[in-house]
Amino acid sequence: MTNPSRPRILVVSGSARLDSHVHEMVRIAAEAAESAAAEVQVLRLHELALPVMRNGDSEQNALAAVQTARERASWADGFILVTPEYHGSMSGCLKNWFDFLFDELAGKFAGVLAVTGGGGGDMSITAVKTSFSWCHGFTLPYHAAARGSDFSADGSLHNQSVRDRVHRVAHDVVRYAPPLRAAWEQARSLGHGVAAGVAGTHG
Ligand SMILES: Cc1cc2nc3c(=O)[nH]c(=O)nc-3n(C[C@H](O)[C@H](O)[C@H](O)COP(=O)(O)O)c2cc1C
Repeated sequence: MTNPSRPRILVVSGSARLDSHVHEMVRIAAEAAESAAAEVQVLRLHELALPVMRNGDSEQNALAAVQTARERASWADGFILVTPEYHGSMSGCLKNWFDFLFDELAGKFAGVLAVTGGGGGDMSITAVKTSFSWCHGFTLPYHAAARGSDFSADGSLHNQSVRDRVHRVAHDVVRYAPPLRAAWEQARSLGHGVAAGVAGTHG
């Protein structure tokens, strides 16, 4: 049951792998957002199994997975986006999720988390922030990345510094998403003129 007084945060897992460290980051982020009094939903892209986006395909637009992706994104005030670093970028399934969305992300706020094999995560984090920004969303100027060596054999994240950063990201997304969305909706109410800013370019 939706409680309108609580910020609504969607945590998106960009992993297509069942046994992925990304899921541990998602779990920690979701718990942290809940502890900050948010209403949290988790979208696991390996479960949703979106097809590769075909622009303008009405049959594909009617698929339950596509509608779920759009409805969950519309529901959210803010996002915590978690990606594995693949070839210096975000995962293909997370980019594909973006490709189904635009208005659902505009005027909203996101924090970004990454899991890498050994790199610092900057490239995948920047890729996610760029795509969110090109959907007219705003991102937190702070993020967290975990390397494979930050996880124990049982899959738990043992690096306390990374864990703290994940918590900071989650708390900030819960903090900033609602006022940003309220400001955006107020701007949209001004119509399509220049005084409405970028919000005025949306329907
Ligand atoms: C296709 C592919 C590309 C990858 N590219 C990178 C990379 O550019 N940099 C890096 O540090 N790790 C890279 N890795 C390792 C993954 O980042 C690492 O396995 C993953 O992010 C950790 O999450 P996982 O538990 O889902 O594998 C790559 C892995 C795959 C499968």
